[in-house]
Amino acid sequence: MNERETLKINDKGHLEIGGADTVELAGKFGTPLYVFDEKYIRGMMRVYKHTIDSDYDGNGMALYASKAFSCMAMYKIAQSEGLGVDVVSGGELYTAIKAGFPAKNIFMHGNNKLLNELTYALDNNIGTIVVDSYREADIIDRLAADRGITQNVLIRINPGVEAHTHAFIQTARTDSKFGFSVSDGTAESITAYILSKKSLKLRGYHCHIGSQIFEKQSFVLAVDKVMDFMANIKQATGFEADMLNIGGGFGVWYNDEDPKLKFSDYAGYLKALIAEIKKKSSLHGLKLPYLLLEPGRSIVGEAGITLYTVGAVKDIPGIRKYVAIDGGMFDNPRYALYQSKYTVLLANRAAEKCTERVTVAGKCCESGDLIAVDVPLPEAESGDIMAVLTTGAYNYSMASNYNRNLVPPAVLVNDGRADLIIKPQTYEDLVRSDIVPERLK
Ligand code: LLP
Repeated sequence: MNERETLKINDKGHLEIGGADTVELAGKFGTPLYVFDEKYIRGMMRVYKHTIDSDYDGNGMALYASKAFSCMAMYKIAQSEGLGVDVVSGGELYTAIKAGFPAKNIFMHGNNKLLNELTYALDNNIGTIVVDSYREADIIDRLAADRGITQNVLIRINPGVEAHTHAFIQTARTDSKFGFSVSDGTAESITAYILSKKSLKLRGYHCHIGSQIFEKQSFVLAVDKVMDFMANIKQATGFEADMLNIGGGFGVWYNDEDPKLKFSDYAGYLKALIAEIKKKSSLHGLKLPYLLLEPGRSIVGEAGITLYTVGAVKDIPGIRKYVAIDGGMFDNPRYALYQSKYTVLLANRAAEKCTERVTVAGKCCESGDLIAVDVPLPEAESGDIMAVLTTGAYNYSMASNYNRNLVPPAVLVNDGRADLIIKPQTYEDLVRSDIVPERLK
């Protein structure tokens, strides 16, 4: 499957995703609505799994970074595709376990995992925890000892490679809230510390160099640095890591400033990494580590779109035209947070030419609540259905009830069939946790 097949314009001039007419979806489920194409998600998961199978003898596992989009259906899909998952909170872990995800294939991250999160993880026999502080090492060691088990752990390290979209830099940066730096020796010290702990089993190292990265060389360089570090550690302590987790970060297309990668391009990233691991292993005389990677955005980003209904249109002659939608920063805070650029179209008039540039505004009581600035569109009218593309990753997961707006529901489409995977919220949900103390009554 080529991923571009997920979106097309049908003979009614409507946008289709995964064989489903978006105008019909909007009619049936209402707007705002998150829509995910199951085939795309599965297709991308298979890219990673098959490449590990074919190029690395299956000696590894792709983990879906569930922070990108966490809900029970996603853990079911990941499980059925033979992936593991990475979770970063008790809430993500709970969702995975509730969906019946095998705990041994769950990796837990976080720079400040809470005692109750770690307790919950060990109570559920979590596979591996990625250690990010001395305090955490002490807590896990104690929790494991109390249970008479040894807990598999990795150490999160900063190899000194930072990547941003099309560029990467080699730094000795130690200023990060995550991980232990190689350059200042703390990565080596925590290694010795964890090796001294009776109830921890150190399996290897994890690094994550950034997100929305297109530069293949960034990943190769990160592998290079981590493998050098592993060789140094082996020499210094005798400890030979048998797991290497290279994190996530593969970029996706949001608008025409980004490349449109094919599934095979993502396989190419992984192949380049694997080639570097093999090269470095033989150079340093290390055994080939079990390989883990944690793609999130590249699995769900382009699989998802958001549908809205156009409401007010405000033209300020000579200045700007605002097209307001029934969603906003509560379902997609990424423009407000990062000035992220999106591709926007009218789903019910998808074949029409763009005739003007408009700014798409949300409905929150805040001027910065925008979704896209100066984007081309046909002349939008109230009632049109708007589609914002590539909203599958970090949109639902960062949604909020700001202004007490309702987080939209999500549907999963596959060959024209659409199933709700996240129910619509209700106003009752909003007040469910509110308490009015006696003295205010
Ligand atoms: N592994 C670790 C340890 C991570 O911190 C992340 C992302 C991933 C994997 C997945 O990276 P991906 O393949 O999705 O790039 N909210 C931001 C993105 C934050 C990403 C944080 N970590 C956004 O909306 O762009």
